Amino acid sequence: MRPASAPVTSPRIRKAPGRKPSIPRPKTASLRSVSARIEKRDAGAALASLPADSMSILITDPPYRTVDRHGGSGKLDRWFGSSLTWRQIGDVLAIARSRMRADGVVFVMTNPDGLREAIGALERAGFIRVRPITWNKVAPGLGGGMRHQTEYILVGYLPGSRTLCGADLVSVPTVGPNTANRYPTEKPADLGRELARIASIGRGDHVVDPFCGSGALLVGSAERGARVTGYDVAGAAVKRASERLVKPAPKTPTKAPAPTRKASKPSLEGRLTAGKPAYRNSAREAKPKVRKVTR
Ligand SMILES: C[S@@+](CC[C@H](N)C(=O)[O-])C[C@H]1O[C@@H](n2cnc3c(N)ncnc32)[C@H](O)[C@@H]1O
Repeated sequence: MRPASAPVTSPRIRKAPGRKPSIPRPKTASLRSVSARIEKRDAGAALASLPADSMSILITDPPYRTVDRHGGSGKLDRWFGSSLTWRQIGDVLAIARSRMRADGVVFVMTNPDGLREAIGALERAGFIRVRPITWNKVAPGLGGGMRHQTEYILVGYLPGSRTLCGADLVSVPTVGPNTANRYPTEKPADLGRELARIASIGRGDHVVDPFCGSGALLVGSAERGARVTGYDVAGAAVKRASERLVKPAPKTPTKAPAPTRKASKPSLEGRLTAGKPAYRNSAREAKPKVRKVTR
């Protein structure tokens, strides 16, 4: 079990003989430095393809199907057309459980309507001491009826799980509806950052979001140097998450532009004619010949 206080990404300076010391990038390093993999795959099948002991943290906001306030199915049905019952999500979590390292932890989001079913799903999947972290959405936005000011992030432990540190209430503003490129149900990257901090995620961790959407919940882990993997069945999600997390392939260096020629000193001829109009040499403007008249 990793002690909670262990510094995970403290900068160290490694000296190699004859070389300049290399300074590891700070936690806030650009995401271009991370090891990230985003795949268009079904969550269950993708998790089943991972080797045992290969994942240390699972952070996800699954496409849960809940009954909404008007008695119909929640809006995830309309957005994704592939929402799942908590029983189905529990089956996916059970596969994840069998791939987790001994010190692993899962973070699974739910709204208050699905809280009971979600806790049952985690317990059936084999996680213990399931408890919620409350997410205060700060400004939950406009909408009809009673809006949810809070949602929950359920924490599921294993017998050897690492110790989490922090409070069980996180306050992070939601992603506003007018945010450019906003993915439906996109969560704030700061929420993922909070969870990464609570779980002391760092280098050596492999963090997976099997329903990654825009990849927002993986950003914090990636920034802390963890290897991150996201799966989603929607092409738009894979595109957005890849743009956000995956290091672009190195570009083939373009041919350097030809150096601009330094204006050379004009030749002697040039210097003599400089400033004089060109027409002085043209036939049209040549001086009329003086005709010699003999008397
Ligand atoms: C609630 S959204 C995730 C939003 C994400 N956390 C974000 O911040 O952008 C759930 C995602 O699950 C995806 N999904 C639905 N069924 C899936 C399946 N069987 N396997 C993988 N992804 C699935 C949907 O396409 C959707 O992008």
